[in-house]
Amino acid sequence: MRQKIVAGNWKMNLDLVEGEELLTNILDQERGKDVVTIVAPPYIHLSSAKRMLSHTNIGLAAQNCHNQTSGAYTGEVSVKMLKSVGVEYVILGHSERREYFKEDSLAISFKVNHVIENGLRPIYCCGETLTERKDGQHFEIIEKQLTEGLFQLNEIELLNCIIAYEPVWAIGTGETASPEQAQEVHAFIRKTIASQYNAITANSVSILYGGSVKPSNAVELFNCPDIDGGLIGGAALQAESFATLTKSF
Ligand code: 13P
Repeated sequence: MRQKIVAGNWKMNLDLVEGEELLTNILDQERGKDVVTIVAPPYIHLSSAKRMLSHTNIGLAAQNCHNQTSGAYTGEVSVKMLKSVGVEYVILGHSERREYFKEDSLAISFKVNHVIENGLRPIYCCGETLTERKDGQHFEIIEKQLTEGLFQLNEIELLNCIIAYEPVWAIGTGETASPEQAQEVHAFIRKTIASQYNAITANSVSILYGGSVKPSNAVELFNCPDIDGGLIGGAALQAESFATLTKSF
């Protein structure tokens, strides 16, 4: 079922005390109704965040996971561990993971499968770099990322995924895709899903936009027909702006 979603990706920001303070402040704010609100703090925050969120309607996401259940993978965290502390969603394929940690769509597809098998929901990120956009390759790149990372799933499994379109050139740069640019790619993602699966599935998946979303540009973006909300970086680190985004539909 297509949902309106605002998810805050805290990335590698805030120590535990600062994170608890941010959550307390978010909980104090009025948030949008009928909007699924999700926070994705660093691993170290997840247990305490779950305790703080347990009687609220804010969902909890991790920013990554490993593709195996357990074993000799120093420094890694499994989906089983995430599930045991109450995590419900996992961000996968973020461009920062693709670029700095050399994760390609095939590697990400194993994580997607593992998250789905464990009953959690992937938030699968895709998006082109500035060079790719300038070369007019963005549709091709996005189709490839979807095909290699996500389309191994069957229809029911795909319906458990959330997709985030995050043009790399708009992340943390202050430069946002225009509503027209974002809508064009979101419609393309839906069309690509429709040709691989069917139109009903394509219309049922929530597709979020990410990249310099803030209160001043969110309403225009979130009201595009194929944009179901946002995956937010910087503006998710301030309670008031994050809460405002949940009311920007
Ligand atoms: P910014 O909102 O800071 O551009 O980050 C977007 C993002 O990468 C969310 O995952």
